[in-house]
Amino acid sequence: MRMDLGSAPQRPAWPAGYAPRKFVLSDAAALHALLAEAYEDGGGAIGPLSDWRPALLGDAEFDPALAFLAEEESTGRIAGAALCWTPGFVKDVAVARTARRRGLASALMQAAFAAFRARGLSHVDLKVRPDNASAIALYRSLGMYEPPPDER
Ligand SMILES: CC(C)(COP(=O)(O)OP(=O)(O)OC[C@H]1O[C@@H](n2cnc3c(N)ncnc32)[C@H](O)[C@@H]1OP(=O)(O)O)[C@@H](O)C(=O)NCCC(=O)NCCS
Repeated sequence: MRMDLGSAPQRPAWPAGYAPRKFVLSDAAALHALLAEAYEDGGGAIGPLSDWRPALLGDAEFDPALAFLAEEESTGRIAGAALCWTPGFVKDVAVARTARRRGLASALMQAAFAAFRARGLSHVDLKVRPDNASAIALYRSLGMYEPPPDER
């Protein structure tokens, strides 16, 4: 699905008790755990930390400034993440089960859209499994759409 960045995206509205923060290298294990938990019911897949961590940090399209995290303020735990690649691709979006339906994924995605727009990109893409109804509903609610095959 695609988000056009021609006009300024909505400003992220962070739900009470959660705050955005920057990714640091020591977050890798906690981010992996969040993704593993989020993908347990389908929606995506992630390999073991020992493979995933070096692949992530060594990827030429990885930029820690495009790893958007939301922290639960009372515990410091990572409750949500949107992990993006520099060409304008959202690779992973995940929110801990206990933190869902509060607007966290929406805020993370809007932060990602704003960052890509500031870098001059015209659009952001992502892939979603056709049976992932909750993610598709999220992306549609943000204004994302299915581009025609010849524009992908
Ligand atoms: C998909 C996911 C990231 C959504 O995170 P979230 O923080 O709960 O999403 P938000 O609260 O920002 O939801 C925004 C809107 O998206 C839609 N939405 C989100 N989850 C939904 C669900 N389970 N059912 C229906 N609509 C849903 C709704 O329109 C919602 O607005 P509303 O709550 O006012 O109705 C989360 O469910 C998740 O981590 N799923 C597992 C991992 C995954 O599938 N990631 C996507 C890979 S492509």
